[in-house]
Amino acid sequence: YESMSTTVDNKEIKYRAFEYIPYVANPIDIDQQYMNIYVPEEYFNNGTVNGYTTQTAPIFMPNAVGGYMPSQAMTPKVENGKPNSVVYALSRGYVVAAPATRGRTNKASDGNFIGKAPAVIVDLQAATAYLHANDSTMPGNANRIITNGTSAGGAVSLLQGAAGNSSDFQPYLQALGAATAATNVYAVSAYAPITNLDAADMAYEWSYNGITSSNKVSMNHDDVAYSNLLNEHFPDYVNNLQLHDSVGRVLKLDKNGNGTFKNYVKEFIVAAANKAQAKGTDLSKHTYLVRDNKTGTIKDINWEAYNQFVSRSKAPGAFDSRSNDSGENNLFGTSTTDNNHFTITAALHDTTSNPEAYVQNAKVVTMMNPMNYLGSPAATNAHFYRIRYGTADSNTSVAIPLIVGTRAQNLGYKVDMATPFDVNHSGDYDLDELFNWMDNIVKNGR
Ligand code: DHB
Repeated sequence: YESMSTTVDNKEIKYRAFEYIPYVANPIDIDQQYMNIYVPEEYFNNGTVNGYTTQTAPIFMPNAVGGYMPSQAMTPKVENGKPNSVVYALSRGYVVAAPATRGRTNKASDGNFIGKAPAVIVDLQAATAYLHANDSTMPGNANRIITNGTSAGGAVSLLQGAAGNSSDFQPYLQALGAATAATNVYAVSAYAPITNLDAADMAYEWSYNGITSSNKVSMNHDDVAYSNLLNEHFPDYVNNLQLHDSVGRVLKLDKNGNGTFKNYVKEFIVAAANKAQAKGTDLSKHTYLVRDNKTGTIKDINWEAYNQFVSRSKAPGAFDSRSNDSGENNLFGTSTTDNNHFTITAALHDTTSNPEAYVQNAKVVTMMNPMNYLGSPAATNAHFYRIRYGTADSNTSVAIPLIVGTRAQNLGYKVDMATPFDVNHSGDYDLDELFNWMDNIVKNGR
């Protein structure tokens, strides 16, 4: 290790850095399958930080996955006086275990792809197993692992929370020589999760169906027809989930995409706007907000105008592109095929000269989706979830993170879910609140 220190707000934070620790015995790519571990110096001197000891300190496990690309382990950084999540975690007494992972573009020397799905979640589970296997000899409590990530990283953070100990991943873990130990985590933080990929195309068109051109997208007649098709499929999808809100109302959509589910989604955006207004934010440009004339509080949004304001950043087939060339198509390639479709709908409407390009192993698609593990008796689900998706983000439909969070809530797990007002595609923007939430769930979970 190396002894290091960082100053934040005139406070010196001392820690030991154990970097480039391989988390599997037989790595396929040693440049990707390692983690950095950082431990507050106090824990080597029987000290406490924020009430935690070397035995009780939770383990903060941030990934740096973006775009389902290969990722390097996070390191402590302070930029413009602002600590990143690693430094912040250390200042609050957390042990940090930051894994690198394989991603969709990784290749071996023979040219074969080695980071296609499910490599990223296999790597994160392998790193988790390492922490559990070595719990008695390492600082921190492996029964209090809290994952964190943004975007694709938020998606795999959720998947870590949902798919713990599932046997689906065992053959992959065994092949890597991962520690034979638990792969479940205690809690999940996910910002802007690009998740539930095989349902996300439908949700996207439910949000953006009427919007046929934007800064980023200009749709032709075929695109409009495909948007209509996906949008028409979404109500069946939602209705089959049988979700309900926090007071037990069933969340449904009629064939036009209206109903209690839509009202539920709108309520999150309304709550976020009211929160921003209460803080004194100027909301005048948000002309889609509908106010109560008497009180001035926001009581509704005009759905079409809201989605027009945010605007689409992706053409229909937002994730499984008909031209088989999205990042997600690239995620579902194989060792020898770069890109594949992963939904039947896109495969049937393929516009390339190779319409046969459909995932050879459809199981892999299910293994990337936390919806398939939440509530499954074959997995150990985390019991705590914090999910954030900004109202200005169009990287997926706002419905998607809310569906996953609502499913977890309906299962009886504690879910802290919000759509911060006018926040774009980003994460780690509210570290104070995030770590307050973590301290609280750890305390109440003891
Ligand atoms: C990310 C963003 C996307 O729009 C997407 O489709 C997948 C991943 C990201 O920022 O990680």
